[in-house]
Amino acid sequence: MKRRIVPVVMALVALLLIPYGAFAAEKKGLLVYDSIYGSTVEVAYWIKAIIGHEHRLDVKSIPQITTLEPYDYIILGSATRNEGPLKGMHEFIEANRSVLAEKELCFFLVCGDSDETQVLTYPGKPAHLIAGRNYLQPIYDRYPELKYTCIGGFGGRQVMTSLGMTDRLQIKLLEKLAKEGAVWIGREIWESLVVERVEAFANEVRVKVLGLEPRENVEQFRGYWDSLQPANRSDLSLKKFKPKPWTEKVSTDKIYYSRSRFTADLEPAIAMIEAWARDSGYELRPQVKSFFNVYYHAAKTYGGKERIIHIVPSTMPEDPGTVHISFRSYDKPEERTEVEKDINAAEALLWADGRKLP
Ligand SMILES: Cc1cc2nc3c(=O)[nH]c(=O)nc-3n(C[C@H](O)[C@H](O)[C@H](O)COP(=O)(O)O)c2cc1C
Repeated sequence: MKRRIVPVVMALVALLLIPYGAFAAEKKGLLVYDSIYGSTVEVAYWIKAIIGHEHRLDVKSIPQITTLEPYDYIILGSATRNEGPLKGMHEFIEANRSVLAEKELCFFLVCGDSDETQVLTYPGKPAHLIAGRNYLQPIYDRYPELKYTCIGGFGGRQVMTSLGMTDRLQIKLLEKLAKEGAVWIGREIWESLVVERVEAFANEVRVKVLGLEPRENVEQFRGYWDSLQPANRSDLSLKKFKPKPWTEKVSTDKIYYSRSRFTADLEPAIAMIEAWARDSGYELRPQVKSFFNVYYHAAKTYGGKERIIHIVPSTMPEDPGTVHISFRSYDKPEERTEVEKDINAAEALLWADGRKLP
């Protein structure tokens, strides 16, 4: 009799433990978003859908949050203003920094500029790296104790007809200052979001945070972002999304700008840039270095004056196995003839042996 009871009791205990084990292993997540016009909210729920409704992930705006205690991991998601996350997101992090330091964290930005090889200069501000994940730099500087398992900078959406007065003025001013042109001109709705980046980010959360397989057939969730509204109601042929060309050369009075992509990983690409700099007499000064890109000043004296080429090789989450690279010279056309030749030589080296991609 006793012999028969023991296995039955053990089976019952095992049955009781299975759901408890499954429950204990499941990490509980919170996605905190900060948005002004709503596009970040759409992205927040899109990410939740890819991660999977069967997994615990609360999605909340900042005023809806009373505590972070129940959560194992936290995804911070913010729109971008003035080259960084919104003020409200900064305040949220500041108010909760000691708790956040104990949590597993991810961070994504919804922004206008998504080309992570982009350098910007305007009156009063020297040339600096912008766009996508580069906008997280102020967060790293201010809160060095916070570490992130996954980061993303997706691009976003501007509905021009809804912008408030000061926002509209700021965007108009940007239009005037943009040395490389402003892609939203003529569009009532302008989008820059790279959908594959959102999908790559959500799948990275599944794999790295939750220990799951990446979700296949993620295209089915794009309805969280897509809409039937045209870019401009009076020109139905105009697309809302105008991807920045991967290969481009622009030569104006203000800038010589060249952008391309080629097959490589970041480290071999860096080695080739270093070899080019050595052979052509440039001093290579790294300005910013991350796991996905580097911003260099390459300096050489021509005509008694130091000339700087701004170089950014960057990998992109949606284009694995490639390096995208931009070169910029802000010297006047008559002063940069030699610099342009040096940029062409650098590109020839990077693109050699069939590495160049369209
Ligand atoms: C006044 C203003 C300033 C902005 N500043 C930046 C910026 O510095 N960098 C950037 O990439 N995007 C910038 N954006 C674009 C927004 O981040 C983008 O449109 C985003 O999708 C807005 O998110 P939301 O709809 O959740 O508010 C700016 C937009 C406005 C209206």
